[in-house]
Amino acid sequence: MKPVKVGICGLGTVGGGTFNVLTRNAKEIARRAGRDIIVSQVAMRHPNPDVTIGDVATTDDVQDVINNPDIDIVVELIGGYTVAKDVVMGAIANGKHVVTANKALIAVHGEEIFAAAEEKGVSVMYEAAVAGGIPIIKAVREGLAANRINCVAGIINGTGNFILTEMRDKGRDFADVLKEAQELGYAEADPTFDVEGIDAAHKLTILASIAYGIPLQFERCYTEGISKIAPEDVAYAEELGYRIKHLGVSRRTDAGIDLRVHPTMIPDSRPIANVDGVMNAVMVKGDAVGDTLYVGAGAGAGPTASAVVADIMDLARVLDVPASARVSHMAFDRIKDVNVLPIDEIRTCYYLRLQVQDKAGVLAKVTGILSERGINIEAIIQKEPADHANAQVILLTHLVTEKVMNDAIDAIEALDSTEGKVTRIRVEHLD
Ligand code: HSE
Repeated sequence: MKPVKVGICGLGTVGGGTFNVLTRNAKEIARRAGRDIIVSQVAMRHPNPDVTIGDVATTDDVQDVINNPDIDIVVELIGGYTVAKDVVMGAIANGKHVVTANKALIAVHGEEIFAAAEEKGVSVMYEAAVAGGIPIIKAVREGLAANRINCVAGIINGTGNFILTEMRDKGRDFADVLKEAQELGYAEADPTFDVEGIDAAHKLTILASIAYGIPLQFERCYTEGISKIAPEDVAYAEELGYRIKHLGVSRRTDAGIDLRVHPTMIPDSRPIANVDGVMNAVMVKGDAVGDTLYVGAGAGAGPTASAVVADIMDLARVLDVPASARVSHMAFDRIKDVNVLPIDEIRTCYYLRLQVQDKAGVLAKVTGILSERGINIEAIIQKEPADHANAQVILLTHLVTEKVMNDAIDAIEALDSTEGKVTRIRVEHLD
């Protein structure tokens, strides 16, 4: 069979990894794909010291790749929304298939991109966009296709998980760990995307769409980062038998769909609570299969290249197959009128930490505020004050709607006996 010719746009961490996997494993890849896969051309701004480019044609203009008549598949590994979008749309317009690792582009412009691809009869593959090396798109879109999926939750940002793990285990400084994550090629070009949860929100948006068959709605995903996690909350969580993880959570409920990324306390007995470092983990609950969990490296050259190359190979097998016989981009004929719940309407359990004056009746006032609103307390601890002035009170609640909890927190903060703000962390038992 005729070899498949690939053009790579972007030779950074992921582009370099992809080039190296395609060349290093060329024979195995050809045996699996049923034909040779050849890199014909690479568009790059700078050479990558980890790549020996050999006699492969290079250019500094992505248009050369998009317009190269020899190329069957354009691989977009530039990142961002501007040049990357031009590459993807230009390749589609020229009738070429596309592979991308760009979660931001898919989460924000996916609807437009898939519509253009469907019009042209080409495919856009994006396995590497979610959870790096874990084949989670394939698992949800194809492997679990028989199921009605009710929940997708996971640690879907390697940088954030790496930072939280190093801070917890080694007491390292936030900025120092972030710098290491950047050097290792885990972090986004703008690392606030990692630590403020935007990257995870991109990924959760994609996962929820293929799990429930709803349009991509990144703008409706609630996003809260890890930058305000205090070391004392990490320690109290451990004491209570929990771990704090930065989780993406999406649930299908009668009222609508949850779509939220935030620091979350999880019982330490749950496997996902023990997924550390740059590892990602995604839990998917289906009505037929039950609970499933997928774990693997969520960032870095090799793991991301593994997903990119698998997409190239899938395309190599179906290049001559009519578009109608390929797996559809978003898995479903999608339902448009699904309610994504505003954060006020989600129901979850909570961890609260507050500083109160150490005098009679203070705790009763706090618990009174909770009971007046029907909030059931699961556990309560009062810590002896170090300065003999204020006490720390730590509470765990049962399930409550966020707007009711916000109202209770306002009332607790308004008490004369409460000092400063109440710290609140959502708790998920994932059972
Ligand atoms: N910055 C991302 C992460 C890279 O840390 O998970 C992979 O998407």
